[in-house]
Amino acid sequence: MIKFLDINNQDKQILNLIYSDIRKIIKKNNFILGEQVTKFENKFSILCGSKYSISCANGTDALLIALKSLDLPKNSEVILPAMTYCSTAFAVINAGLKPILVDVDYLSPLLNLQNLKNKITKKTKVIMPVHLYGSVVNIPLIRKILNNKKIFIIDDCSQAHGAKFYKKKVGSMADISCFSLYPGKNLGAYGDAGVITTNNRSLNIKMKNYRNLGSLQKFKHTQIGVNSRLDTLQAAILLRKLPLLNKYNNKRNKIAKYYDLKINNTKIKKLNYVDGAVYHQYVILSNNRKKLTDLLKKNNIQFGFHYPYPIHKLQALRKYFRKQKYKNAEMLASKGISLPIDPNLSKKNQDKIIKVLNSF
Ligand SMILES: Cc1ncc(COP(=O)(O)O)c(C=O)c1O
Repeated sequence: MIKFLDINNQDKQILNLIYSDIRKIIKKNNFILGEQVTKFENKFSILCGSKYSISCANGTDALLIALKSLDLPKNSEVILPAMTYCSTAFAVINAGLKPILVDVDYLSPLLNLQNLKNKITKKTKVIMPVHLYGSVVNIPLIRKILNNKKIFIIDDCSQAHGAKFYKKKVGSMADISCFSLYPGKNLGAYGDAGVITTNNRSLNIKMKNYRNLGSLQKFKHTQIGVNSRLDTLQAAILLRKLPLLNKYNNKRNKIAKYYDLKINNTKIKKLNYVDGAVYHQYVILSNNRKKLTDLLKKNNIQFGFHYPYPIHKLQALRKYFRKQKYKNAEMLASKGISLPIDPNLSKKNQDKIIKVLNSF
């Protein structure tokens, strides 16, 4: 079986260190906001080139905490792409705001900037680009489009840890950047986890306070908040995994370049990714997805769909976007197949995948 992802194998070299760290934390009974949490936040800021990091319980909360920190009027408009994970849109609705969708570019996972420009109104308060599949949205260009209007940019970086747009690092370009650290991400914990970055001092304090029940000091609750802290145990695991991120991102990149070069079948379309992409997913498109995935199954090759429904077609969200159509997002949903892109995928297995795809 060619696995889609093999986290256990990725972490083999650090497992003993992780076990020993966990033992020490258990002995110390230091489970909540222990020293590893701050240490991880500091290291994550260095990775992103941002001033501040605010860890939290998961990526969905990261987006919600970021939106809540802006104190926006109810029903303010937030623009996001029609193809992303449900959480990006759920966070907007849970924050009492109104999601406005834009399509992604043709054969790209990233939102179309012309489309974005057309959707900006007086009520727009936030743009929420998503660096989907590890490719990177041109945030500096979005800033130019906004032309000093008081509109915030919160980017969803859940699939782009360590990615770059030219020399600019993901996590340092927007007003607030949100990351999921779900186990299968390029940087993932052994359970739910998330982190937010910003260069804004007052937003940093607000978000640190909000994620800890409105408190920076025990029993002093200065505002209503949520309980969305990163566990000390997860922080210790992330601290061990963080130094491996760039190496594994480079390996993903090499596999992606090999697929780009060797998959040569006119029945399969490849997507465009930007240069600094970290290939959280490598997605191809097929007009006959059922037949092609049957062939992958027959050859014991795992695959995924990211995602089978665009935002406007999710059962929970349909009522917000009646009669709206986003044809490129719909194309990714109905024709996209994510290929194995585990950083340790062997050359032999890469060749097998390519051979099967080219024989289709
Ligand atoms: C683009 C995107 N946004 C948000 C999330 C939500 O993150 P989490 O599962 O950690 O809540 C994910 C992860 O699944 C994601 O891929």
